[in-house]
Amino acid sequence: MRILTGLQPSGKLHIGNYFGAMEPAVKLQDQGEAFYFIADYHAMTSMTDAATLRENVRELAIDFLACGLDPEKATIFRQSDIPEVNELAWILSTVCPMGLLQRCHSYKDKVDRGVDANHALFAYPALMAADILLYDANLVPVGKDQKQHLEVTRDLAGKINDKFGEGTLVVPEAQIKDATSVVPGLDGQKMSKSYGNTIPLTPPTTMKALRKTIMKIITTSHEVAEAKPTEGSTVIALYQLFADEAAVQTMIDEHGFTGEEGKGYGHFKQQLFDAYWEKFTAVRAKREELEGNLDYVQQVIANGAEKAREESAKVLDRVRKVVGLR
Ligand code: ADP
Ligand code: TRP
Repeated sequence: MRILTGLQPSGKLHIGNYFGAMEPAVKLQDQGEAFYFIADYHAMTSMTDAATLRENVRELAIDFLACGLDPEKATIFRQSDIPEVNELAWILSTVCPMGLLQRCHSYKDKVDRGVDANHALFAYPALMAADILLYDANLVPVGKDQKQHLEVTRDLAGKINDKFGEGTLVVPEAQIKDATSVVPGLDGQKMSKSYGNTIPLTPPTTMKALRKTIMKIITTSHEVAEAKPTEGSTVIALYQLFADEAAVQTMIDEHGFTGEEGKGYGHFKQQLFDAYWEKFTAVRAKREELEGNLDYVQQVIANGAEKAREESAKVLDRVRKVVGLR
C-alpha cells in the first residue's frame, strides 16, 4: 500500500497540526510505503514573499524530521523538486470540466477571505490530483476540508482511465480524519493559524512566552472556590491530548472542588502547560539539533526527490504514451 500526503509550508506548526497531521503521518510510515511532501507550489497560491516561502519550506522539512518521520521508512520530498507534476496537472486539466472546479468550496472560501482569485487558486485541485496520481498512491490521509479535493482526484483519475484505458492511473482512497479529532484553539474554536488562536508546537520565543500563551485559554469566570463546568472546557480537551486517563480524571474531579479546596483555572492551565512542555521535549531537542545540521536536512530532501522521481517517471511515461504525447 502506498500512502501519500502533502502539507503546505505556510508557517509555524501548531499543536493542531501535530495531532491532526504529524502524529498520524508518523504512525502511518510503518503501515505502508509512505510519501510525504512539502506542497510549495500550492503555497504559492496564498504566499507571495519568496524569502518567507523558502524559510517555511526549510522549517517544515525540519518539523517533519523533528516529529519523527524517518527518511529510512518514508520518502520525504519537496513538491517543486518534481516539476513533472505540472505536466500531469496539465494533462488532467484536459479532462477536467470547469464545473468540477467551480464547485470546490475551498476556492470559494479562500476568495471570500480575500485571497487573490487567480488561475492557480482555481486550478489548485487539479495540481493536487496530480500530486496524488503521479505516485500511484492508494491511500491519502487528509483533513475534512480536503475531502472534496480527493473526490476531484478520484473523478479525474476515472476520466483518464475511461478515455485512455483502465489501469492508466490508480484511483486513490481518502482517509478522512474524524471530526472528533479536531484540536481546539485558545478560544475554543478549531485551532487554526487563520483564527490566531494557536499554541505553537515548538517555541518561537521562550518557555515563559509559551506559558503565557496557554494562560490565555478562554474559560468561564468562576471563582477559585466555586465548582467549574467540565463540559466544553478547552483546557480539559487539550489536557486529554497529553495526559493519561487517570490524570485527566483527576483534573475533571478537581473542577468539582469548592471552598478552601477549590482550584483555580491558573492551576489547571499550569498542569496543561507542564504536560505540553514535557510531551514535546524530544521534538524541541531534535529540532535544535537539525537546525545546527541543515546540510543533513537538505540531503534528506534531495534523496527524497530522487526516490519520488523514480516513481513519477514511471507514471508519467505511462500517461504520456496513452494520451499520445509519446
Ligand atoms: P491551519 O488551519 O492552521 O491553516 P492547515 O489547514 O494548514 O492548518 O492544516 C494542516 C494539517 O493540519 C491538515 O492535515 C489539517 O487537517 C491539520 N489540522 C489543522 N488544524 C487542526 C486542528 N485544529 N485539529 C486537528 N487537525 C488540524
Ligand atoms: N491541499 C492540502 C492542504 O492544504 C495540501 C496538499 C497538496 C495535499 N497536495 C496534496 C494533501 C496531496 C494530500 C495530497 O492541506
